[in-house]
Amino acid sequence: MCGIVGYVGTRDSVSILIDGLERLEYRGYDSAGVAVATDEGLSVVKAKGKVGVLRTMDLPVRDLGTGIGHTRWATHGVPSDVNAHPHTDESGRIAVVHNGIIENATGIRERLEEQGIKFRSDTDTEVLAHLVATAGVDDLGEAVRKALGVVEGTYGLAVIDRDQPGTMVVARNGSPVVLGYGDGENFVASDVAAIVRHTQQVVFLEDGEMAVVRPDGVRTYWLDSTETSRRAETVGWGLDTYDKGDHSHFMRKEIFEQPEALRRTLSGRLDHRASTAKLGGIALEPRDVLRLRRVRILGCGSAYYAGRAGAGLVEQLARIPAEAEPASEFRYRNPIIDPDTLYVAVSQSGETLDTLRAVQEIKRKGGQVLGVVNVVGSTIARECNAGIYLHAGPEISVASTKAFTCTVAGLALLALHLGRVRDLGAADGDRIIAGLDALPDLITTVLATEDHVAEVAERFAGANSAMFVGRVNGFPVALEGAQKLKEVSYVHAEAYPSAELKHGPLALIGPEVPSVVVVPDDHLVEKNLSTVAEIRSRQGPVVAVGHSAELEAVADEVLLVPKSEPELDPILLGIPLQLLAYHTARCRGVDIDQPRNLAKSVTVE
Ligand code: G6P
Repeated sequence: MCGIVGYVGTRDSVSILIDGLERLEYRGYDSAGVAVATDEGLSVVKAKGKVGVLRTMDLPVRDLGTGIGHTRWATHGVPSDVNAHPHTDESGRIAVVHNGIIENATGIRERLEEQGIKFRSDTDTEVLAHLVATAGVDDLGEAVRKALGVVEGTYGLAVIDRDQPGTMVVARNGSPVVLGYGDGENFVASDVAAIVRHTQQVVFLEDGEMAVVRPDGVRTYWLDSTETSRRAETVGWGLDTYDKGDHSHFMRKEIFEQPEALRRTLSGRLDHRASTAKLGGIALEPRDVLRLRRVRILGCGSAYYAGRAGAGLVEQLARIPAEAEPASEFRYRNPIIDPDTLYVAVSQSGETLDTLRAVQEIKRKGGQVLGVVNVVGSTIARECNAGIYLHAGPEISVASTKAFTCTVAGLALLALHLGRVRDLGAADGDRIIAGLDALPDLITTVLATEDHVAEVAERFAGANSAMFVGRVNGFPVALEGAQKLKEVSYVHAEAYPSAELKHGPLALIGPEVPSVVVVPDDHLVEKNLSTVAEIRSRQGPVVAVGHSAELEAVADEVLLVPKSEPELDPILLGIPLQLLAYHTARCRGVDIDQPRNLAKSVTVE
């Protein structure tokens, strides 16, 4: 959520900053700006809209190789030119870009206004610029440290000073900041995607850490001034990971990366000898597993829906009562933390604030929490006692696809592990292992049906509303299918458990409202076929997603997927619905990778 880039070196910073911001746009894209040091002082160019707007504006032709940039997802203050970052103090000496929320900004602002300082924007960030400017010390690092001493809240920030070109100060508390080490130049960003083109040597700041960045070196400190010693690590992913390649959108690229991503999630984790999953990072002794009375999975958005599929897997494979809950609801309802419950926090980014706060609440009350996280070293991953990394690779499209699939697979591994300590027999363990092993190739088979899915999408792309229904294993598939469609195509979509349809939403069904019915080939197939009939007898068009060609006789359209093990059905059945959402959005001509109002990782409440 929001993206930051910074540069100090000998090259013109403007183009480096704008290029970096474009690679971060998935984190927020309602306004953007840069501030660069020039011979005439700081030049600030910012505007409402996407980063590309900056390219059409009057940018400095030469700068002194020091600059910061930002792409925003508005929280405090509407998206507008004036609320766009960077923010400056009254004299224009200090410029700040910031991710996160300064919680005591209102009080600080009132105090500064009493001192006669005039604010220009409605943002919480602007207080930082004034605090740094009025800190009363010349050294920029000291001034930032003093300013941060009075603020409460979360931040990843970068600051430059007109009078100290060649110096940038950054700090982190709750929002990621990464330092990139170059030769005679250095970079900062909120995400490696922005700088990986220039350097692959990086350091991720810790919470409570800051850095003074100059072309010839970087020094890192805790906020109390103690110097820290950090060794650069090499970014693990190749440059092509951050490019669309031959694909029209990141979403499509990531859908097609799923077989490979899933192979990485499963790699080294299928223990054929003991018919179980090998999970080095979870540190659960068999005795702890036997004591478990409940599993509760927490996440937001698609991560929550993946958690619902995961809860089903835990109940089926381990016979432990399991449920999933939105992390935000959990944290706000003063949850009762039970020592015999295993809490599982699910997050692609590892930075979603609601999920992080839920983890902190569990830990504060003495609970044990595992993370199922994609981004290695992210805040949630570090905050959890133990966990499973997905290794799905960077996910750039706002709408999650490969991370969703790999999360459900990660939870399947956890369920298998728990089950094999409890009542799941070795033969069933072997069956699930074989099922997981086969999934990547089966996904490839589903992806080969893209042209047909695109035709179905075209047929229904004009609808303004759609219904997604499924039962038991099919219901999380319906939830995520509806989520994908509304996120990227803006078609109103609702997901219901199939049997609930007749208790209200059936009133919405008619020729104008297509329904996607998830029909796995399980013990509920007859019930699901009745749902199809129930909808069609109200003239509602039906797209059935299932395994049997016989569905063609009862539905208007069928999206066929091969059969896997019944417990793993949600993984395969979800794939055509990702393609359906993608192609519906394409037909409707909307911005697929960056849907309106959304951002990739939401690091505010
Ligand atoms: C945002 C994104 C969703 C995502 C959710 C959770 O709302 O728009 O696509 O599912 O955050 O993100 P996480 O990184 O925690 O999985």
